[in-house]
This record gives sequence, structure tokens and C-alpha cells, in this order.
Amino acid sequence: MKRDFLHITDFTTEEIWETLELAKWLKDKFYKRESYHPFADESMSMIFAKPSARTRVSFETGFSWLGGHALYLGPNDIGIGKRESVADIARVLSRYNDIIMARLFDHKHIVELAEYATVPVVNGLTDYNHPCQIMADILTIFEHRKTLDDLKITYVGDGNNIVHSWFELAMRIPMNFVVACPEGFTPDEELLRVTKEAGLSEIEINHDPIQAVKGADVIYTDVWASMGQKEEADERRRKFEGFQINDKLMNSTGKETLFMHCLPAERGVEVTDSVCDAPYSIIFDEAENRMHAQNAIMVKIMKESGKR
Ligand code: CP
Ligand code: NVA
Repeated sequence: MKRDFLHITDFTTEEIWETLELAKWLKDKFYKRESYHPFADESMSMIFAKPSARTRVSFETGFSWLGGHALYLGPNDIGIGKRESVADIARVLSRYNDIIMARLFDHKHIVELAEYATVPVVNGLTDYNHPCQIMADILTIFEHRKTLDDLKITYVGDGNNIVHSWFELAMRIPMNFVVACPEGFTPDEELLRVTKEAGLSEIEINHDPIQAVKGADVIYTDVWASMGQKEEADERRRKFEGFQINDKLMNSTGKETLFMHCLPAERGVEVTDSVCDAPYSIIFDEAENRMHAQNAIMVKIMKESGKR
């Protein structure tokens, strides 16, 4: 049976730890410029219905470092769900490629892609979630803190796809996860309910950022208007007033706190330059770890799908 990675909850807790260990091992090899080619003679289609810098470059670089060949299919190439059905694209690409990575709008489409593909499918972001990002983030936090015990993360901003994947992780690794967002920008209610019901982590929704960041080990943010919402950007700027990560907010935690952002950042909007460029900001470590976390995810699911 093939394995996909569409949600962090597709992995058990043990598998998440195993993936993080594998990511560290692969990263060490990459640093030492040692060759490791489990994907020799294999290929990956990367479907992008939305723009990307990190996801495209990290997947393409990672897959080729692992010995394979990655193909970029941009928004105007295959027209998934428009020019051709998702199911047909899945069946066609499965005849050429050994793995598919996709960044799509509608989450239902990635689920359908995985259902009809006979090769593993990796989610490179949908409107609903971004599991590879949060796997890279937790690897980064682990590198900096050396432990994930007693972790308080306060996410300040829009209750979006990034938050949803944090919830997925919170169902596998215990943490105190607080979302500080304006009224009307809360995360998906059903996922919030399921995450709370899982009972592993403390989850809180708060509308007061200063209070929400008290005792936080990590403050995390993301853009206020995600891809597909850019026409709402001006209105959102008004509604998110007071939710910017600035020196005052970073100084309100009462402890040493790391700053994280999945990037791209709109500097001066959801976060100031002073925070992005502060010594406690680990945004570029996060970006770097995208590649190593994803390499580990791909190596694991390819192996378990009977590929290598
Ligand atoms: N963080 C992230 O996914 O970045 P890109 O949109 O540039 O891929
Ligand atoms: N929430 C953002 C994340 C970008 C990596 C978006 O979907 O645009």
C-alpha cells in the first residue's frame, strides 16, 4: 500500500519522531556534501496552482540531491481541475512519475489526487493546511531548544492553513498552543473541536495578543491575507490592527522567546523588520529546514510504498 503525506496526522507520533531523526541525519549528510541517492532514476511531478519560492526550490533541490529528477508544473501548465480532472491527472502522472507533490487551492483536490494516484502524494500547501511547513518548524524548534517538552507556542494572526497544521501536530505531540486572532478570523471550528477532543495538547483561542504571548517559548505569525485572499489585504490590515509582531509584543512574554514565520513575510505589516532581523528570529533556519524535513518525509513514504 502506498503512503501519502497530506496531513501531519497521516503520521503517528512515533513516525513524526522517526521523520525528525531522519531529517537530522539527511541534513548532516547534506552539510558534509556526502552523496546519497535513494531516488536514482526516479522522478517527481510538482504541481503548483499557486506561487512559491521555498516549496518549489526546497522540493526540487532536495529531490535532485537525493538522486532524482523533479519537474515543475506551474499554474498555467496542466490546469488541474480546470483543463483536466484531478483524477485523470493523478492517473496520468502515476504512469510517468514515482511521486507527486502538489500545491493546490481546494483541499478536496489533494485528497482526490492521492486517492487516484498510484504513487505517493505530498501536500505542498492547500487553502486548508501546510503540513510540510510545520514538520520543518518543529524540527527547527527542536534544534534550538533541544526538547519539545513544556512548549508554549503562541500564533498571532489569521487562523489559516498554518494554524490548521499546528493543530494536526498538537494531536500528535503535546504542547500548549495559543491562537491570538481577531474575532471572525478563528481557525476551522471542526478541526479545533477534534484537536481539543484528542486531549493531548492545551489549545486556546484568544483575542488579546499581549495576554496570549505571556510565557510563550515561540511567537509565530504568518501573512494576514493568504494566497487567494490578496484582494482582502487592505480590509484585513484594518481588522488585524494590534496583532502585529513588534518589539513591544516580543517583550511581553516575560521570558526568552523565539520568533518564527513560515515566510513570505510582509515586513511592516504582520511583523516589523526589527523582529524579523533580531537574534531571536529563526525564520531562515525554518526556511532551510523545509528541505531536510521534506527529504525525510519523501524518503520515508517512498520506502514504505515499496519504492526503495
Ligand atoms: N513557506 C512557504 O511555503 O513558502 P513558499 O510559499 O514560498 O513556498
Ligand atoms: N498562509 C499562507 C502561507 C504561505 C506559505 C498562504 O496560504 O498564502
